[in-house]
Amino acid sequence: MRHNKFSVRTKDITLVLLLVILLFMIVGGCGLFGDIEDETYISEDENLIVVGISQLGSESGWRTANTESVQRVFTKDNGYFMIYNNARQKQENQFKAIRSFISRRVDYIVFAPVVESGWETVLMEAKEAGIPVILMDRSIDVADKSLYTTLVGSNSMEEGEKAGRWLEADLEKKGLSEETVNIVILKGTQGASAQAGRSVGFSAIAGKHANWNILGQEYADFTSAKGKEVMESFLRKYPDIDVVVSQNDDMTFGAIEAIRESGRTVGINGDITIISFDAVREALEMVAAGTINVDIECNPNQGEYLSDVIQRLENGEEVEKEYYVEEDVFTIENVTEELLEERTY
Ligand code: AHR
Repeated sequence: MRHNKFSVRTKDITLVLLLVILLFMIVGGCGLFGDIEDETYISEDENLIVVGISQLGSESGWRTANTESVQRVFTKDNGYFMIYNNARQKQENQFKAIRSFISRRVDYIVFAPVVESGWETVLMEAKEAGIPVILMDRSIDVADKSLYTTLVGSNSMEEGEKAGRWLEADLEKKGLSEETVNIVILKGTQGASAQAGRSVGFSAIAGKHANWNILGQEYADFTSAKGKEVMESFLRKYPDIDVVVSQNDDMTFGAIEAIRESGRTVGINGDITIISFDAVREALEMVAAGTINVDIECNPNQGEYLSDVIQRLENGEEVEKEYYVEEDVFTIENVTEELLEERTY
């Protein structure tokens, strides 16, 4: 008897649990559940400017700083109603977010495109709905430039060229301009403009130097874990690496770990010269310590610029097609105590 009662209760509980799980799956399948988790809702107010922001993910320290920069600016106090979505590195999630912004009839769509291509259809939908689209951080590859209003971000090709020019000058200073220099490149996300631009910019300078020997270049997704993995495989394949060009700081952290574990040294007095991109505080500390030779800045503080552009559009002013944020090049010579103290990311 006892046993039977217990079985019946267990069956009931199981049934209820199954029903609850089913309900969760239905709600989640409709896109309601996942979205709520990722979005920031602020109560609606007629006078606020409604901005839908699709961030591409949270792969790096730089990305966190970029997200914080927009979240600091698009607040109720500043006159905005922000709907924020994290696409977790998936273009389909960005399509979903943009379509949800269109159906909510937001005033502006701001998005950081995870990759350059494939945006025509969804941006045509935004255009037909009369919603201005502003690209943040990265650019896209579309023939019809009217699909977006403007871009606020980085000139990644110029960043790549800066890296190449720094290496030219460094080799000259060391009297190594004519020597063979063995280089490996850790590239960011395949198809992302930040990766493509930095690659093209660096290649433009490398192409002028027959003695720059690019041993290998591989995608490492802008993450520390992948940076380490790719660097380990480079170290196994190429015993004579002189220079690592790593297209962001997170990959650089992973690469340095791999190099040290292999028994080699990095930086100013080391075996391998390290060229990095982003210039987050942790990396700048490594520049100051001589561990990273140079860091090409990519400025994540784009919130203020974006708000400025939106205010101009609100006032009916014309805006330019591109706004590039200011960016520097950091070496041991210009990373001061003061700079490190002021760096918020
Ligand atoms: O698009 C900017 C790049 O994306 C940054 O260099 C990198 O850290 C980020 O993930």
